[in-house]
Formats: sequence, C-alpha cells, structure tokens
Amino acid sequence: MKLDDQQFRAYEVSEHILDGRSSFQGALVQKQVSSLPTGDVLVRVAFSSLNFKDALSSSGNKGVTRQYPHTPGIDAAGVVAESDSPLFVAGDEVIVIGYDLGMNTAGGFGEFIRVPAGWLVKKPAGLTLNESMIIGTAGFTAALCIEKLLLNGLDSSQGQVLVTGASGGVGSFAVALLAQLGFDVVAMTGTESAYEFLRGLGASQVIGREDYTQPGPKPLSKELWAGAVDVVGGDILFNIVKSLKYGGSVACCGLVASPQFQASVFPFILRGVNLLGVDSVNLPLAHKRQLWNKLATNWKPVGLGKLETKVGMSGLDAALKTVLAGQSTGRLVLDHHID
Ligand SMILES: NC(=O)c1ccc[n+]([C@@H]2O[C@H](COP(=O)([O-])OP(=O)(O)OC[C@H]3O[C@@H](n4cnc5c(N)ncnc54)[C@H](OP(=O)(O)O)[C@@H]3O)[C@@H](O)[C@H]2O)c1
Repeated sequence: MKLDDQQFRAYEVSEHILDGRSSFQGALVQKQVSSLPTGDVLVRVAFSSLNFKDALSSSGNKGVTRQYPHTPGIDAAGVVAESDSPLFVAGDEVIVIGYDLGMNTAGGFGEFIRVPAGWLVKKPAGLTLNESMIIGTAGFTAALCIEKLLLNGLDSSQGQVLVTGASGGVGSFAVALLAQLGFDVVAMTGTESAYEFLRGLGASQVIGREDYTQPGPKPLSKELWAGAVDVVGGDILFNIVKSLKYGGSVACCGLVASPQFQASVFPFILRGVNLLGVDSVNLPLAHKRQLWNKLATNWKPVGLGKLETKVGMSGLDAALKTVLAGQSTGRLVLDHHID
C-alpha cells in the first residue's frame, strides 16, 4: 500500500514579504507524503544533522534555497519506506548527504524525504544511523579534505597540521580524525570555551585566530604548517597559504569568514605549496560510497560520540540560530525520535 496519504512532521521555513522586504520564519508543520517531490525512493528519516548550509537555508539565503516554503536538512539517514528503484528495497538503511537535498529538495528536517536512487548510499555495517549523522556532511567533508591532503603527499613526519574553525562541525571532526591518524594537530579557534573540548579530541595545541585575520604586508610568512584544513576562507586562508612549509597543502572547503581573499603567487612559485579545493556536495556517488566505507572502519573516530549534541524538532529553530552565529560546538544531530 502506497504511503501517499501518510502525514508527517517537518520543520518548514516560509518567506513573509512586508513593504517589499522579506523575512523568514521556521515552524513545525504537518505535511503529507504526496507533497514530496518526485523521486525513486521514499525514506523514513531517523536522523539528520545541522550544518552551516542548513543555517543559511533556514535564514533565507537564496544562494542556497531559491524558493520557500522549504524544508532544509542537507543530511538524512533512515530506512527505505518505498522504492521504485531495483537498487533499494523497503527496509534498507540508507544515508544521503549533499546533491540537492535540503537546498531546493525537501530535506532531512522532515520525517520523510523522497530522492533519486543515485543520491543514496547503503549504510555501511560499521556505523549506526545515528553515528552516520554525527559524521554527516561536515564530518564527511573533513574526511575528504584529509584524503586530499594525503593524496598530495602529507605525512605525519612532516610536522604540524592546522585546522581552522576547529570547534565547528567540519573543524572538530578534522581535529579528531587527524589526531587518530597520528598527526600533530593544531586547532585554531575563536571560541575560548572550546579549548578543553579540542584538546580532548586530540589537538596538541589550541591557538586563537587573531594573528591570522589581516592580509599582512609580507609575501611570505614563517614556514609553520605541513598541511591545513581550512573552513573559514578569507584572509585567514591566504595567511595559511603563506605559512605552509615547502611543498605543503591546504584543503579549502568553507567560507564562514569570507568567500574572498587577497593573494599573491609568491607562496606557490617560491615554496611550491598547494591550494586544494574540496567539494563533498556533488562528489560522484562511487567516491562517496568508498569514503563512507572508510569512515565506518579505519577512519571512524574512536570518540565519535564526544562530538555529538542531540537536538529534537522543538529545539531545531534555536539550534540553527547558534550555527548561523558560528557558536555551535561539534556536531548537532537532529533525532526524529525525540520531541
Ligand atoms: N565544500 C564543501 O563541500 C563543504 C561541505 C561542508 C561544509 N562546508 C563549508 O565549511 C564551512 C564550515 O562548515 P561547518 O558545518 O563546520 O560550520 P560550523 O559548524 O558553523 O563551524 C564553523 C566554525 O568556523 C568558526 N567561525 C565562525 N565564524 C568565523 C569567522 N567570522 N571567522 C573565522 N572563523 C569563524 C567557528 O569556529 P571557531 O570558533 O572554533 O573558530 C565556527 O564554529 C562552511 O562555510 C560550510 O559551508 C563546505
């Protein structure tokens, strides 16, 4: 029997226009499965997670979400309820991160999603659905950054690896995974209360970001970092490029400080350093599957649970505001089983 008439709960953001000005408000609403977009697979979502992009979508950022009302949630883990695809059957446990989920396709902040089969990965045995969302887009992106750094020759004997935005989702996961892989990790944070948390994840040193926020007059800085994971962009990113050791690399995946920076070619042509772009959203599914399998086995952080704070539907709106303000710590997981 088709579930089209089934009602479910969702967090929906709507746009209100007054005197030509838009404002955006999120609320819990009842929806019907038949209102979901067309797709091959209907998934009953058990967990989602909160990412910076969800905070942008829920605040009306039209670069992320063009049309409202909309249900954000770029991550979802759950159980297949109906499938028109030969690749999945009802009862399969699945994960979806990225592609258009939560951007212009109703996302994981609803108890059901309907998506193309080509977006779904079967949950690896080494992870629970909950654990897969502690990882979510943020953790997966951190792992992708690290994978790219390793492919470009990063080795633990080369020296310290810097992680920026370290108390946030991508940053905290990167600190934990790098430390577990044997790297000497320096966490950069603007959150004083996060120092203990970051040491607990394995950072050997925690530093503030003040010295990195201005463009700086010199073409090169002292060689400090064998590699870096950067989530903030802006002048911090280029200051890192200038302080990479000879041949070192920085993986660039975010823009919380700024999408722009002033740069010169000197670090590239005098020190042979690399600026590596990282995108987890449109990564081909085969690569996503491969990395999920790694994250379920030898790349699964031992203290994964330490990163998690659970949120229920009733706490979602407030939690999104802390993410938008850059004030959340670790990974916020939306659990559809609580309130
Ligand atoms: N390329 C991709 O595929 C991809 C995938 C996932 C995420 N991202 C991007 O990665 C970035 C981080 O995502 P996230 O989910 O980790 O976000 P998040 O949980 O909000 O973490 C961002 C962290 O950056 C720091 N920060 C905030 N405002 C800052 C500022 N003005 N200057 C410097 N640092 C600041 C804060 O950490 P501290 O206080 O510790 O410094 C904050 O916790 C976002 O830009 C997101 O869009 C990209």
